Amino acid sequence: MNDRVVSGVRQQDDDSLDGSLRPRRLQDYVGQDRLKVNLEIAIEAAKQRNEALDHLLLYGPPGLGKTTLANIVANEMDTSIKTTSGPAIERPGDMVSILTRLQPQEVLFIDEVHRLSRVVEEVLYGAMEDFVVSWVIDKGLKARSINLSIKPFTLVGATTRYGMVSSPLRDRFGMTHRLDFYDEEAMETIVERSARILEIDAQREGMAEVARRARGTPRVANRLLKRVRDYAQVMADNVVTGGVAREALTRLEVDRLGLDDVDHMVLRSIIDKFDGGPVGVETLAAATSEEADTIMDVYEPYLLQIGFLDRTRRGRVATRRAYEHMGVPYQAAPPTPQGNLF
Ligand SMILES: Nc1ncnc2c1ncn2[C@@H]1O[C@H](COP(=O)(O)OP(=O)(O)O)[C@@H](O)[C@H]1O
Ligand SMILES: [Mg+2]
Repeated sequence: MNDRVVSGVRQQDDDSLDGSLRPRRLQDYVGQDRLKVNLEIAIEAAKQRNEALDHLLLYGPPGLGKTTLANIVANEMDTSIKTTSGPAIERPGDMVSILTRLQPQEVLFIDEVHRLSRVVEEVLYGAMEDFVVSWVIDKGLKARSINLSIKPFTLVGATTRYGMVSSPLRDRFGMTHRLDFYDEEAMETIVERSARILEIDAQREGMAEVARRARGTPRVANRLLKRVRDYAQVMADNVVTGGVAREALTRLEVDRLGLDDVDHMVLRSIIDKFDGGPVGVETLAAATSEEADTIMDVYEPYLLQIGFLDRTRRGRVATRRAYEHMGVPYQAAPPTPQGNLF
């Protein structure tokens, strides 16, 4: 079992058990207010016209509710959803067969949409634009292209790497929304909702502690809440008080800002090994034995968000706040040389 609380945000496995925690309707989806209002209007309008909703691209760090939202879109449109992911669709033919089997107005959810191969992506272009799939069969002189119309559908794409979505694909989404880390109030609402659903005996202060340390990420909040529940059950009469939550989270090595051992390793290596930076992500990955992708998708966004890291042209730099949090006297990183050194 992976005991990591934060890097576990990449794991999908516990989400199936979490089915009960996943909001099904827009009104149960906490926070992201601007996105919700826009989506609500678009959904209402599409329903009135009896059309498929426009294609929707969602991006942002893992665990913020992209998959949840894709499912909500299908529910709100009173339609069904087919779910797949970029790396799962290997050949153009696979894409064709998924598209041709969609029901009218159905939602096709493609997770990690930035990982579609170019040839597979090209099948999507016509499908998204004109609801036509065309592909080339045979080779050389016998090559010919086949066009097939398909039912109007809604593509919902999700990605943690907006910059890696090709521009022709990006341009074909009618709506693009970034999901932000949740503020403290929204996090508290999410923890309270989850505690209610899981029937956890939790005091306000206990829930607030979980919310505060969940790095603005609902998936992390739900995981922490479950760990805290376990701790309360075994160590403390089953009641999640503020003190119990703090004890449990400290044991899990989640600090008061929600940073875990990997965050600490990242900050420590920038500060100690690289004099505060700048240091490249690959080097950081090697120094912490994490995948560079994990550092970039999971750890870095939050450290940037709370102002512990700066991203410069030459790599990542630890800020004064990071030094203070780690209890190391601040030493400004040397200024970036302007001219060419060589
Ligand atoms: N806005 C929200 N309100 C309440 N719970 C949420 C919200 N967003 C996410 N969650 C919870 O967090 C979990 C992870 O969300 P998910 O949609 O799988 O994230 P992503 O696809 O962005 O990685 C969900 O199972 C759900 O329980
Ligand atoms: Mg997801």
